[in-house]
Amino acid sequence: MSDTAPAIPDAIRDALSAYQEHSTFRGCSPEDYATLYRVVRRIKPRYALECGTGVSTLVLAHALRENGFGHLTSMEEDPQYYQQQLDLFPQGLRSVVDIRLSPREDTYFHCFRGTHYAEVPALPYRFVFIDGPNYTSVSDEQVSCNLDFLDVVRRAERNVFGLLDGRLSTAFVLQSIFPKRKVRTNVDTMLTWLGPCTKQDIPVIRHRELLETLARRALRTGRRRNTSVALR
Ligand SMILES: C[S@@+](CC[C@H](N)C(=O)[O-])C[C@H]1O[C@@H](n2cnc3c(N)ncnc32)[C@H](O)[C@@H]1O
Repeated sequence: MSDTAPAIPDAIRDALSAYQEHSTFRGCSPEDYATLYRVVRRIKPRYALECGTGVSTLVLAHALRENGFGHLTSMEEDPQYYQQQLDLFPQGLRSVVDIRLSPREDTYFHCFRGTHYAEVPALPYRFVFIDGPNYTSVSDEQVSCNLDFLDVVRRAERNVFGLLDGRLSTAFVLQSIFPKRKVRTNVDTMLTWLGPCTKQDIPVIRHRELLETLARRALRTGRRRNTSVALR
C-alpha cells in the first residue's frame, strides 16, 4: 500500500502478542495483520465483515476503535473456535464486534459454485476480510471458493472493498466475475485486493452469451493449435 495509513502502534502489537499466547487460532502472517490494520485505518468503514474469526478480529477491532467509529461482524462456522473467541476476546473491544456462529452452505453464481456463511447479518458492509470458512464445498468436500464478497456487493448501495488472504480459487472466481482490475492478487504476499466494487460490476450472464464465449474460446484455442502445427 503506497499511502500514509498508520502502522500498528506498539501497544496494539503487544495486545496481539498477549492474545496469541492464549489462543490456538492460526491465520495470517504478521505482515498480513499489519496490512489489514492499515487498510481499515485508511478506508474507515462504518460496517466491516470478517469471514473467519481469530487474531485478525483483534486487529480489525483495534483499527476500528482507532478510527473512532465502525462496527465489525465476525463470522465463524466452527463451534469450538467460536467459543474460544467468546472466551478470549478482550472486554474492552466487545462493543465494536459482533461474533457470530453460522454454518457455511453451498451457493451459486451462474456456473460458479461456492460457499458462504448461511447467516450473515444484512448490513451495509464497506469492507470485507476473507480468511474463512473452510474452502471445501459442503455437499461433496471438493475445493470450492467463498462468495460472501459477492453477496455483500449485491446488496451494497456504495463501493465495497475487500482483502482476501490466500484462497486462490476464490481469487480466480472473483476475477472471472468482476472486472480484472478490481481483483488484484499480489503473488509475493498472497493477498488479493478487492474493489472498489458496486452492483454494476456484477455481470448479467445469459445462457446464450455463455455459449458464445465458450465457442469463441474454443475457436481461439483451435487456431493456436493449427498455428503451432503449421510452424513445425
Ligand atoms: C485461517 S482461519 C481464520 C483465522 C483468523 N482470520 C485469524 O487471523 O486468526 C479459517 C478458519 O479455520 C478454522 N481455524 C482457526 N484456527 C485453526 C487452527 N489452528 N487449525 C485449524 N483450523 C483453524 C476456523 O474455523 C477459522 O474460521
